[in-house]
Amino acid sequence: MANEQSIHGIWTARWTFVLAATGSAVGLGNIWKFPYMTGVNGGGAFVLVYLVCIACIGMPILLAEVLLGRRGRASPINTMHSLAAEARATPFWGGIGWMGAVAGVLILSFYSVVGGWVVAYCWLALKGGFTGQTAEQVAATFSDLLANPQALIAWHTLFLAMTMGVVVRGIHKGLELAVQIMMPGLFLMLLGLLFYVMTLDAFPQGFAFMFSADFSKLNGDSVLSALGHSFFSLSLGMGAIMAYGAYMARERHLGKTVLIIGTLDTLAALMAGLVIFTIVFQNGLEPAAGPALMFQTLPLAFGKLPGGMLIGTVFFILVTFAAWTSAISLGEPAVAWAVESRRLSRLQASLILGVLVWALGVACALAFNHWSHITISMGDLFTLNIFDFLDKLTTNIMLPLGGLLICIFVGWVMDSAIVRKEADLHHPLLYRSWLFLVRFVAPAGILMVMLNPLFQ
Ligand code: TRP
Repeated sequence: MANEQSIHGIWTARWTFVLAATGSAVGLGNIWKFPYMTGVNGGGAFVLVYLVCIACIGMPILLAEVLLGRRGRASPINTMHSLAAEARATPFWGGIGWMGAVAGVLILSFYSVVGGWVVAYCWLALKGGFTGQTAEQVAATFSDLLANPQALIAWHTLFLAMTMGVVVRGIHKGLELAVQIMMPGLFLMLLGLLFYVMTLDAFPQGFAFMFSADFSKLNGDSVLSALGHSFFSLSLGMGAIMAYGAYMARERHLGKTVLIIGTLDTLAALMAGLVIFTIVFQNGLEPAAGPALMFQTLPLAFGKLPGGMLIGTVFFILVTFAAWTSAISLGEPAVAWAVESRRLSRLQASLILGVLVWALGVACALAFNHWSHITISMGDLFTLNIFDFLDKLTTNIMLPLGGLLICIFVGWVMDSAIVRKEADLHHPLLYRSWLFLVRFVAPAGILMVMLNPLFQ
């Protein structure tokens, strides 16, 4: 036990792990989900609750996942098998790894379709496709894209090829190289855009939308969505972080490393919110919800802005980087497992996974047009198309369930002497608080989020 290296290699430097984990965490969730949630849930009041959730639930589970990976030194499936054996627990704990790898494949299939939209919008912005457009024209551009299966599938194929093209090259020439270029690039672009919007008249309005605390808009639901999102935003529950932890060198500051990742993820979300809302308000528009914000409202605003072609292109390249580095971490656990246990080469494993994800993604793309009538329903509980079904199944059920099981395994099943040693939290009080959060607070929080819909 406690191997020093995985068969896939080891990150070259401590920073590479931080960049890779932050790359996984900072994704579409930060850029369009979080800002909007903040706006409608009472701004600063919501941010405050979110920070508490990140600190009390997100970061403790993040530490638990890294700890598991670093001890097991293999893909999440094999890591969980060997750690269950070490703890003399039932091999069923390996199910955490399996569920995670399957969730990764399912998420990647619809994430790649959305990633394709983002790449398509980079191209559109670069061509000046938004300049001088009316609101109707911009809205039609998006609905025409969704109605066009060939275009959707082509962009999905491109995004997936970009993702698997990195995974296939392995840790050093693939993952590490990609995050070393994209993550600094992402933060530089975000900072550049932030400085730019600070010069606009609407900056105070954007700032107020994000930060002025309106506690009256805060209710039980907003607390639960803050909780659920803190979890989602850190990419927890599916083994992505566990897989990256397996490539980590022994170092003495796991707690600090986790703190840095959580902080960067939150900063990215807050900065994205300021940029987006200032640009929206600067053009006298109202912030919309969901995909409409990024693919309709913002392009309209870019089209009206002096220099909007440049700003819009930078923005969509930034979102591409965010989605791309997240997508890589969705594919890595399954590929790592196939290389370890099926004796496939990385090329074979990536090709098989790529084809599988591609086919599922095509089904998701068709859900917007030819197959829009095909739905999956369960009594009165839900009726969803394929795209939404995969989203809800993974985000609302598989990821929280994975997180819950990880908390139980680390908090209750593993040998506590090993956990204490691996957690590397030098201060006894810090260690005990962390263990308390992992044993009680995080599982209770996750259960509340998962069961909430049943009581609606
Ligand atoms: N954290 C990503 C985001 O904010 C989304 C995500 C959730 C994710 N779970 C994941 C990404 C697992 C990679 C792996 O958009």
